[in-house]
Amino acid sequence: MAATNETRRKVFLGLLGSAAGMALGGGAGARAMVDQATRVFRLDGGGVTYAFGINAGGQVQSLYWGAALAASDSLPAAVPVEANSSNEMAPGLTPYEFAGFGGGLTTEPALKVRFPDGVRDLDLRYAGHQDKGDSLVLQLQDAKRAVRVALTYAMDEATGILARSAVVENRTGNWIQVDQMAAACLNLPYSDDYRLYFLSGRWAGEFMLQTRAITPGAFVLESRKGVTSHQINPWIAVSRAATGEESGPVWFGALGWSGNWRINVEMDAMGGVHATAGYNPFDFSYRLKQGESLASPVFHAGFSNEGFGGASRVFHRYQREKVLPHAPRPRLRPVLYNSWEATFFDVNEAGQVALAEKAASIGVERFVVDDGWFGARDSDKAGLGDWVVNLKKFPSGLGPLIKRVNGLGMQFGLWVEPEMVNPDSDLYRAHPDWVINFPGRQRSEARNQLVLNLARKDVCEHLLKVLDALLSSHNIEYLKWDHNRAWSEPGWPEVAPDDQQRLYVAYVDNLYKLLAGLRRRHPKLEIESCASGGGRVDLGIMKLTEQVWTSDNTDPYDRLVIQDGYSHAYAPAAMMAWVTDSPNFVNKRVTSLEYRFLSAMQGGLGIGANLNHRQDEDFAKARRLVEAYKQVRATIQLGNLYRLVSPGNGSPRSATLSVSHDRKQAVLFAFLHSSMLRSAQKTIQLRGLDASAVYSLRPIAGSAAAGTVAKASGAYWMGHGLKVALEGDFQAAAFVLEAVS
Ligand code: DGJ
Repeated sequence: MAATNETRRKVFLGLLGSAAGMALGGGAGARAMVDQATRVFRLDGGGVTYAFGINAGGQVQSLYWGAALAASDSLPAAVPVEANSSNEMAPGLTPYEFAGFGGGLTTEPALKVRFPDGVRDLDLRYAGHQDKGDSLVLQLQDAKRAVRVALTYAMDEATGILARSAVVENRTGNWIQVDQMAAACLNLPYSDDYRLYFLSGRWAGEFMLQTRAITPGAFVLESRKGVTSHQINPWIAVSRAATGEESGPVWFGALGWSGNWRINVEMDAMGGVHATAGYNPFDFSYRLKQGESLASPVFHAGFSNEGFGGASRVFHRYQREKVLPHAPRPRLRPVLYNSWEATFFDVNEAGQVALAEKAASIGVERFVVDDGWFGARDSDKAGLGDWVVNLKKFPSGLGPLIKRVNGLGMQFGLWVEPEMVNPDSDLYRAHPDWVINFPGRQRSEARNQLVLNLARKDVCEHLLKVLDALLSSHNIEYLKWDHNRAWSEPGWPEVAPDDQQRLYVAYVDNLYKLLAGLRRRHPKLEIESCASGGGRVDLGIMKLTEQVWTSDNTDPYDRLVIQDGYSHAYAPAAMMAWVTDSPNFVNKRVTSLEYRFLSAMQGGLGIGANLNHRQDEDFAKARRLVEAYKQVRATIQLGNLYRLVSPGNGSPRSATLSVSHDRKQAVLFAFLHSSMLRSAQKTIQLRGLDASAVYSLRPIAGSAAAGTVAKASGAYWMGHGLKVALEGDFQAAAFVLEAVS
């Protein structure tokens, strides 16, 4: 029955329990509706509306994604797209929700399969849907063969973030080979001035914000390194040309996957913009026997009309409330001490006890022993894989050190790199077949190590056993979980050739299972995801790790740029930084202790300096700054972040403001990196305060605000602002504003 607009609207509004339409769960309380007359599905939450429809051919087409529409708005039914010419056929122009490779598809497929008879054609059509309470599941099936796809849509009511994923199931009676599989296709409303933002980098230079216009053709963001990678992070944002930090539309999303991934952003022949995110099809192949299925990772997609600031604030909230361990109330990050830059591999009981005593005296809450405590580990050449305490360095094991650390009122934490092995190790000598390799070919080493094949059950069981034993026999409350090399020769010779490329998925699935298994057995345990710095920061690993190490670059200025990029995608609640020695070990830059502290205070604070080299006055200053940080860390880690002035593009200054949810406390960090142009005298206008509340201003560190009042309304601080008197290079100040009325 063809419904008129008027009857459709009535059906849509009166759909609860009506024969023509129904309300669906749609995810965590977000509203999901289907208008059965028009076959339009609509999800509403967090000021966002997302809609798609089934066209007359049974194909699922995107209809809308953006700012919330009125509840009374009916979206017109999906109409099959017309070809532009015999060269631009309809499938290459259709905004599919999940494009199967087949017909005349020339844009990026979400799913591409091969059948035993050589057919590589898929025609996915709507086959039904289910309300799962917290999500909407859409069933698709190939027009001819029993290849079934279930698309899951879970929209978060508070933020409007849509978690999308897919499962492909083989019911054909024979095997099929999956050559490509994404979580979702996302289609943007038509516009010709889109800009793409993404994060690129390298070791010691992660999370550099990049931008380019979206023009005809495809732009590929990916990792082929086996791990999320420093080079590109699986996050994108798309804005209109006029979008700014606090205004204008931003569509954004991140893939929760810690292995090879790809996000393809393209403009089709008629200007339609699509993003497809999922497993990297490069060297990908996953054979499904009859009855088997393959699940994609989850792509978390959001929209904000309040610029990049609004987009990141809503994404941070989602990560705190839905992603991080202990969500919706992620735990505050304790102040930690890590010995890496102080001692490198030269760890021993006496040295660590001495550092622990000094760390405790400045207010550190968690003491972490980094690399070098195990096996024959005196350098990066040996010992990886042998997770037994080195008795030359710790003659009575770790027990006495842990006891001393706990006695000083601190938690004890330990570095591990379970996925790796040095060829010079007992583990490798016993199990040379446990590494990823192609038989008879070179095994390329990087940092003198090889990658253990976690896709193998025995490798996983072994790691669970040794790590569980380590955690069961010691009071270890935190693991820093490292991964220090990109993969090479990704072979899995023990399984049939057609199954070997399952490695890419099976490895990461087992890594997640291993982490989850350890967390289940040791509920007190917290974990940091580290991969030579920020090589494994993504929403997949962040479900299982309280914190991430953003970079090995601990220079405070470089770190501010890295942290600014990171903050576009990920929450300060999980971000760690350390105060280390000056000159910095990466770039030899000399900076003051205060500048280093204020740079490291933007998320979870750590100290990584050699405390044996510190003077008494440094300890006094450090103690005062750690104490000041503890007073405001809840606002910094869990509040709303405003990037007032970004340090990117060589800006001589930068500033951030973190505002607590009740807007009663705000923390301002201001940095002057270079005195060029005397920009120090510029006024900083704050954001996000309650305009009618009165706030007092108190310096935490650095020079006091120049010529400013000590108390004023939120309207004043946001409209008039304050001048921060900074002079010279690499100067910093921090203030707390507290509502007094
Ligand atoms: C790389 C990490 O990012 C460093 O912090 C340190 O833990 C080293 N590995 C240890 O080998």
